[in-house]
Amino acid sequence: MIAASLTAAAKLPPTQSAYLEGCGGCHGIDGRSYAPKVPDIAGQAGFYLCTQAGRRYIARLPNVDFAHLDAQQLASVMNYVVFTLGGGSAPAGAPPFTAAEMAAARAETIDSPDLMRVRAGIIAGILKTCPAARGLLAYGAP
Ligand code: HEC
Repeated sequence: MIAASLTAAAKLPPTQSAYLEGCGGCHGIDGRSYAPKVPDIAGQAGFYLCTQAGRRYIARLPNVDFAHLDAQQLASVMNYVVFTLGGGSAPAGAPPFTAAEMAAARAETIDSPDLMRVRAGIIAGILKTCPAARGLLAYGAP
């Protein structure tokens, strides 16, 4: 099983392969995880770009910032996540993540004992401008 997925990863383009190795274990190969245990990325990660606070939030997540990728690779993975796996959830014209942006985010990774509370505040802001983002509420729901 592990050997099979490593072989699959080796055949993918570098960004997809980096996603699969660094993120896919939790978020699923196609961004479908196991909400409510891990938030789904498929069809909704782009909603975080609805607000500047949302954009900053996902760039500063510990699991994102501690990935074994350089800032350029990490920016590419984030763009794959929000624009490709996010499947049209990003608002039109949202600019892609850059290496400089991810390097800056890494210098201020979120350090909070209650990430769920931080996330809830971010989503409340997003829902004001992007009501279609309701699916984000599935993660952590009882
Ligand atoms: C160990 C499991 C794990 C790994 C590995 C992981 N994540 Fe996550 N991710 C989570 C969890 C859990 C959350 C919810 C917030 C939190 O608790 O960190 C999350 C939240 C997110 C979110 C916000 C989604 C939402 O609706 O809350 C994005 C975007 C994201 N991760 C992207 C990535 C990327 C990109 C990588 C790889 C570089 C990655 N994650 C690696 C578990 C993981």
